[in-house]
Amino acid sequence: MEYREFGKTGIKISSIGMGTYYDPAFIISRKLHLKGINRTNVEALKSGLDHGITLIDTAELYGTEEVVKEAIKDRDRDSVFIATKAFSNHLSSYKIRKACIRSLKNLGTDYIDLYQIHFPSHFIPVKETLMEMEKLLDEGKIRYIGISNFDLARTMDAVSQMKRYEIASTQMCYNLYDRQLENNGILEYCKKNKMALLAYYPLAHGKLVKGVDKESTISRIVENHKGSKPVHVALNWLLSKGDNIFPIPRASNPEHVVENSKYDSFKLTDEELSELDNIMNDTHK
Ligand SMILES: NC(=O)c1ccc[n+]([C@@H]2O[C@H](COP(=O)([O-])OP(=O)(O)OC[C@H]3O[C@@H](n4cnc5c(N)ncnc54)[C@H](OP(=O)(O)O)[C@@H]3O)[C@@H](O)[C@H]2O)c1
Repeated sequence: MEYREFGKTGIKISSIGMGTYYDPAFIISRKLHLKGINRTNVEALKSGLDHGITLIDTAELYGTEEVVKEAIKDRDRDSVFIATKAFSNHLSSYKIRKACIRSLKNLGTDYIDLYQIHFPSHFIPVKETLMEMEKLLDEGKIRYIGISNFDLARTMDAVSQMKRYEIASTQMCYNLYDRQLENNGILEYCKKNKMALLAYYPLAHGKLVKGVDKESTISRIVENHKGSKPVHVALNWLLSKGDNIFPIPRASNPEHVVENSKYDSFKLTDEELSELDNIMNDTHK
């Protein structure tokens, strides 16, 4: 497992993380208290931790903070980097404080490593949210502040509103099939400003691993590297896009998580990387 510096924080975490968004049905059933914690999901996170993955991404919205709590309860807290998010209806100074305290309780921890704004609000000025997050950081409830789903203008605005700390990271959709970040300035901005970038949907919600066409560039590259899988190609390609990038594939199946943790058993050649850059032109993808 490779460990890379998380933005400008000076701390190192695993280059890939574990995502815990399952599906809308799971979220609804958790909200209605119809569903408890699924042991397989807990085991998936534990397997990832056992295989060197230290980053776990959750959100108050997902209904999975308690899954994370279960997975980390017997571990040294400092060995795990927990990222969670406040939803856009909780961004006033009063509500984000309440949301943070609720998340701490759900996670069974004294501090959140990375507290992210899940989506920007159209109603609450980002300055109000960020000022309260700075206070939460002063109090030791959170260690770093992050944003998610902010376009470039909003990202730059958020950065400029910070008074005493910096925005450590953003979280955006980025994968071989969805390359908007390469054209909307976010990828370049993050690299230039050493902002960590958590890549969500790194496997294109499963399309990059399930049913990949045998004639495709990905399948041809898999054949060049004995024992490799499409998932490894997808993760390696993302990681090659900058040392500030942290893909967070979903962790719900222990076998898949262990497989994902072995992404670095080979290296893509420069030629393969450029073939993958052009994958959009591949009719088989
Ligand atoms: N900030 C945001 O707004 C936002 C939005 C969406 C997602 N996220 C974060 O990003 C994370 C990842 O997104 P995602 O879960 O939707 O998409 P994803 O990671 O791109 O794809 C998940 C799919 O890939 C499958 N998969 C994973 N590893 C596999 C393997 N080794 N072999 C075969 N299949 C494999 C999963 O199946 P199994 O479950 O069976 O393993 C699942 O069907 C989320 O969990 C969440 O933490 C953030």
